[in-house]
Amino acid sequence: MKKRLECIAAKIPDGTGVIDVGTDHGYLPAALAERGYRGNLLASDIGEAPLQTAREHAKEAGVENKIRFLCCDGLELCPPDAVDCIVIAGMGGDTICGILDRAEWCMDPQYLFIFQPMTRAEVLRYWLVYNEFAIVEEDLVEDGGILYSVFCARFAGHTSLKEAELFTGEYEKIASLELFPVLWEKLYRRFRKLHSSLETSGAGDEDGRLALSALICRQLEEMEPHDDDSGCI
Ligand SMILES: C[S@@+](CC[C@H](N)C(=O)[O-])C[C@H]1O[C@@H](n2cnc3c(N)ncnc32)[C@H](O)[C@@H]1O
Repeated sequence: MKKRLECIAAKIPDGTGVIDVGTDHGYLPAALAERGYRGNLLASDIGEAPLQTAREHAKEAGVENKIRFLCCDGLELCPPDAVDCIVIAGMGGDTICGILDRAEWCMDPQYLFIFQPMTRAEVLRYWLVYNEFAIVEEDLVEDGGILYSVFCARFAGHTSLKEAELFTGEYEKIASLELFPVLWEKLYRRFRKLHSSLETSGAGDEDGRLALSALICRQLEEMEPHDDDSGCI
């Protein structure tokens, strides 16, 4: 299995059950079944074609009868008492927010969520903060030259994030990650570029984007990773 999915799999605790929402190829539930995960294994996808691929993959691995396949939007057909861990990976942050919006039952501290948004992680983190979830873990994984954020959350907690942390994850949880300097560099370059293009456009700042990009740059500067060796004698 790819490093990205391995990173997710490593965060799934033994328990009642896990659902992989938007399973596509179904690699994650098949790997969990092969590795002897003892709880319920569910896999959902909005498309019948990807779900069929997942079924075939599970069949090849000899674990088809260990996984319940659900063709539905997000968590629509997931029995709330069948799982205690919900994985939503490989989709855009706004798509994930929509799935959460339509499944109010999962706003319950018994569920551990593992998210890996492909884009707009900041939208998902904002949604979680706004809806009183605690983001309990942040991680970064590089796979095939792409850097992915993987984070875990639980309802009924509290996370307070600065604007830049919506993009990076909470500083305390990411500062010591080996890949944080890579993420920092990428974001700092992006916001410096955005800020200077807004500045040179001369369009003013009616929508506040100029001030916001300046604020995010400042907050990122406060988080700048320091090479442990630099300046040491
Ligand atoms: C890029 S694949 C990600 C597959 C896998 N989760 C991964 O991380 O490798 C995205 C999958 O999500 C499915 N999907 C998109 N929106 C969905 C929704 N609202 N509910 C369930 N599945 C959805 C798509 O059909 C597609 O198979």
